[in-house]
Amino acid sequence: MASDPVYEATCTAPVNIAVVKYWGKRDTTLILPTNSSLSVTLSQDHLRSLTSARCITTTSNNSNANAVADRLWLNGHEEEIQQGGRTHRCLAELRQMRKDLESRDSSLPKLTDFALHIASENNFPTAAGLASSASGLSALIATISTLYALLPENGVSVSDLSRVARQGSGSACRSMFGGYVAWDMGTRDDGHDSVAVEVAPASHWPDLHALILVVSDKKKGTPSTAGMQRTVATSDLLKHRIDHVVPARMDRISTAIRNRDFDQFAIETMADSNQFHAVCLDTQPPIFYLNDVSRAVIQLVAELNRASVDAGKGYLAAYTYDAGPNAVLYVRERDVKLVLELVLRYFPQQTFDDPFHLGPEPAAASSFVQG
Ligand code: ADP
Ligand code: DP6
Ligand code: CO
Repeated sequence: MASDPVYEATCTAPVNIAVVKYWGKRDTTLILPTNSSLSVTLSQDHLRSLTSARCITTTSNNSNANAVADRLWLNGHEEEIQQGGRTHRCLAELRQMRKDLESRDSSLPKLTDFALHIASENNFPTAAGLASSASGLSALIATISTLYALLPENGVSVSDLSRVARQGSGSACRSMFGGYVAWDMGTRDDGHDSVAVEVAPASHWPDLHALILVVSDKKKGTPSTAGMQRTVATSDLLKHRIDHVVPARMDRISTAIRNRDFDQFAIETMADSNQFHAVCLDTQPPIFYLNDVSRAVIQLVAELNRASVDAGKGYLAAYTYDAGPNAVLYVRERDVKLVLELVLRYFPQQTFDDPFHLGPEPAAASSFVQG
């Protein structure tokens, strides 16, 4: 007897770390932001989500395949896909795109008849301020779109998929592209122009490295989604940031990237991280994502930069923090070893990825190249 065909796909997606932060929605259902943002997509070799999806074609336990609900497992535990929730809406949109394809080409298998079982795993802390929602939702969209053949040759562009990813988690729309990526906030109410666009490919500035300093791998107390809406509702500083800071900063940092101007890139990156956390503090009740270790890392980087600038060598490192205590340092290749050695001297820890062969000493940081 012939067995049922297996329809399944597996994809990975990398995290992206914003240098101009997205924080605030003007539409919480479509996920339309209150400001544009810009990020660097890191290499998939390091922090990534790995997602597999399979169409449940067997009906042995169930007389009607349509009655079988989609299911999702994250890091080995089942997560509920809530009716009308973000994941549910993303899957519904991808199914509709597949249905359109199936109605144009009757030779295609009717995959939309089947429920999906999806399993995803992050190889770094989830919900700890290292952008797991960005890689996670991006990997989900990449996997289902591969399974459903939602490809450019079938009329579906990466921009179209970025629009779907945005509705899963705002920051995920930027992980659909590699390199240096802007998310243009757009002006339309339907969100059609609120998409990620490539500012420069990773190959444009391969000298730039990202060092991840894991200060805590615990789940954050205030998830990004809830935190940002509290800020929208209560912070005056956010209004100032949206109207008077971010638009000019987007221009300046895009220019810094185009010119590979590390000093300007570092100045804007650190200023934006500081303002984002100031906006969190301006929220009622205030949100504290940084802890004492995060602040000590900021002080160390500021001191290193001051000494380096005084010596006529320019900035050494740029720190940035998402909604969590963990630091990301952007550093040029020539300075990676020095910065890591200094970080490790001041913050010795137990576990350490050592791609730069710094030696046997237990240490704090893991590092990698974006590209
Ligand atoms: P982070 O700072 O890690 O992005 P968020 O609060 O923005 O934290 O989002 C965390 C949530 O993102 C998780 O609770 C989960 O719902 C979702 N998420 C994280 N990783 C994945 C994944 N691999 N697949 C699907 N959803 C994921
Ligand atoms: C601080 O994209 O996680 O990392 O859209 O509600 O899922 P939702 O929020 P999310 O917010 C990211 C906030 C940030 C800044 C950034 O990545 O731009
Ligand atoms: Co997130």
